[in-house]
Amino acid sequence: MNSPVEPDALIVILTGAGVSAESGLRTFRAADGLWEDHRIEDVATPEAFVRDSRLVQRFYNERRRQLRQVAPNAAHHALARLEREWSGEVLLVTQNVDDLHERAGSQNLIHMHGELLKARCLRCGQICAWETDILEDSQCPSCSRPSCLRPHIVWFGEMPLKLNRISAALARCSVFAAIGTSGNVYPAAGFVSMVAPGTQTIELNLDASMVSSAFRECIQGRATDAVPAWVERLLTPLG
Ligand code: APR
Repeated sequence: MNSPVEPDALIVILTGAGVSAESGLRTFRAADGLWEDHRIEDVATPEAFVRDSRLVQRFYNERRRQLRQVAPNAAHHALARLEREWSGEVLLVTQNVDDLHERAGSQNLIHMHGELLKARCLRCGQICAWETDILEDSQCPSCSRPSCLRPHIVWFGEMPLKLNRISAALARCSVFAAIGTSGNVYPAAGFVSMVAPGTQTIELNLDASMVSSAFRECIQGRATDAVPAWVERLLTPLG
């Protein structure tokens, strides 16, 4: 068991697809995961978009539509509660491209792999809110040119977003938690090794991840059980 955390401490939390699984969004690498039906190199690389933009847009259009049918679960709500009630700072870094953390109320949030509800213009570079399908002739709201929008998603081979801010937070945090992520994709899988010595590190996941051995503490279970219990533990003063 870890020692109590200083009340003004920074807590950094990394989330992955497992935190949204119980809301009804498929993870990537489960037996019934998204990468069982789709090859990464067909839908999630810049080369795939050049080769067959329709197929790539269809994949993300479907996923954008699904967001309307799901809602945040107890794990998202518990993390929003932690940010509201913790006396120090909480930074939530998510690999997820859904909007369930913000719908639950999290505000200090980085989407390091992009966001389904945004589009990026390949001509003017502007990133804009986008809630419907991106079609072949969709017009950029900023430069008004047609046929130049792509999903604001970080594909394999592209640089994740806000890495400088994330690295700085990892270097000064007192607690680092990873929730619902399999530890297959870097740099996120390496965050646990970027914290200062003495940092409390904890993994909350359904099963062991690829990087479990790098954490001081691992809790196995469903996010909707494990995360509210962990948040309660952090917010309950000892003695
Ligand atoms: N509660 C907690 N953990 C869960 C739950 C649950 N209800 N359901 C599944 N998990 C765990 C799985 O055991 C697995 O370890 O969540 C993890 C999900 O792993 P992945 O499917 O690999 O998703 P993630 O780690 O987020 O993927 C990272 O890979 O494909 C890319 O860009 C994509 O952001 C994604 C990145």
